[in-house]
Amino acid sequence: EKGLRVQDKGFLNTAVIRSEITYIDGEAGVLRYRGYPIEQLALHSSHLESAYLLIYGSLPTREQHLHFETEVMRHGNMHVDSEEFFRSFRYDAHPMSMLTSAFAMLGSFYSEANPSLQGQKLYTNGDKESLATMDRQIYRLIGKATTLAAMAYRVRQGREFVTPPVGLSYTGSFLYQMDHLGEEDYKPNPVLEKALDVLFLIHADHELNASCTTVLQTGSSLVDPYSAIAAGCASLYGPLHGGANEAVIRMLVSIGSPENVPAFIEAVKRREKTLSGFGHRVYKTSDPRSFIVRKTADEVFKVTGRDALLETAMALHDAAMKDEYFIKRKLAPNVDFWSGLIYRAMGFPMDFFPVLFAVPRVVGWLAHWRQMMLQDGGVKIWRPRQVYVGAGKREYVPIEKRG
Ligand code: SDX
Repeated sequence: EKGLRVQDKGFLNTAVIRSEITYIDGEAGVLRYRGYPIEQLALHSSHLESAYLLIYGSLPTREQHLHFETEVMRHGNMHVDSEEFFRSFRYDAHPMSMLTSAFAMLGSFYSEANPSLQGQKLYTNGDKESLATMDRQIYRLIGKATTLAAMAYRVRQGREFVTPPVGLSYTGSFLYQMDHLGEEDYKPNPVLEKALDVLFLIHADHELNASCTTVLQTGSSLVDPYSAIAAGCASLYGPLHGGANEAVIRMLVSIGSPENVPAFIEAVKRREKTLSGFGHRVYKTSDPRSFIVRKTADEVFKVTGRDALLETAMALHDAAMKDEYFIKRKLAPNVDFWSGLIYRAMGFPMDFFPVLFAVPRVVGWLAHWRQMMLQDGGVKIWRPRQVYVGAGKREYVPIEKRG
């Protein structure tokens, strides 16, 4: 392996693609979707409008937006392709396990999406039919993301699945499928509906994070997009990544109260504990999303009431931000530090929080997957090398002669 060099563990400082989708400046704390600052999109756009922007590269016209939204909702609001599947889970299955497997299962349902069955150039030859097939899978996966998540939630409660009425927003339809218990006049709370839309928008993409890299690594073999998204969902599940929002709440509950924060900080500095929700591979000053989440939390708490854990979270945040140990390591709150408090205040169960990260992130995964399918020169399978440091050549020893 002449000239091969192991990049530091974890792909540190390794770029594997050129992308036009999302720009991050870790030193300046900047995040832009196709050049638009995340702060402007959070204020003026919606999750589905930003989804169109991320996937197709420009803000949609009114007509394009209406078509996209209609198709996403049309493909999303059905259960026939997943009802029996969800009934097979144990009552206490982790919803991320259910979601991950449900995405893979969908691939078996939609054979039109499978290059192994329809031909390797299904997505890469860029003609009208190929683009239309790709769009249909994109609509369906974004639409189904909320439906599958709601089904996982209802399975855990032993409740029937509900089909939302036409005309609700993306997050309104999601909340309806989660919370509807048969009331005639059920309407999602508009403040929570909007807050969830902002949270979905800022979680939609984050360039080559672990889960997006997993989607591209998997998709590079020309597998169907449902299997590639399932792989990304599995990666996001981990507590170092999308599972951190659940880990933050477990951490805050274990700390118990602001008085216990100093002792917890000392335990982190002794490396006995991890401060979940802090630190980031790219952001070395601040995660711009954390400010948007913090502001959204105040709006939600006006409706739901403040969460008792907020005091502990604020005490922990303030203590860490002025402690040399964290300052020296450039550790600041990331998107996960405050988001769990909102989801908890909205009444979601703790192990459902990573699902609320995965649902919107399907957009970013699909944007990068589509970019890879349409890249000049076609798709190259991702196959990195290694530097071999194992044993040299040796002869086989029969078991009776082994020590
Ligand atoms: C997400 O990549 C993305 O973009 C991800 C994401 C996205 O939108 O897709 O932004 C979403 O995953 C956000 C991160 C959520 N994860 C957590 O909050 C888990 C807690 N954070 C850490 O596990 C850690 O900060 C990572 C995993 C986020 C980043 O790890 P790195 O870049 O590999 O950094 P590192 O482990 O090399 O840490 C550098 C130093 C080390 O100290 P030294 O060994 O040099 O003395 O900082 C320390 C680490 O021990 N450190 C922490 C810490 N994070 C890093 N110490 C205490 N608590 C922490 N949270």
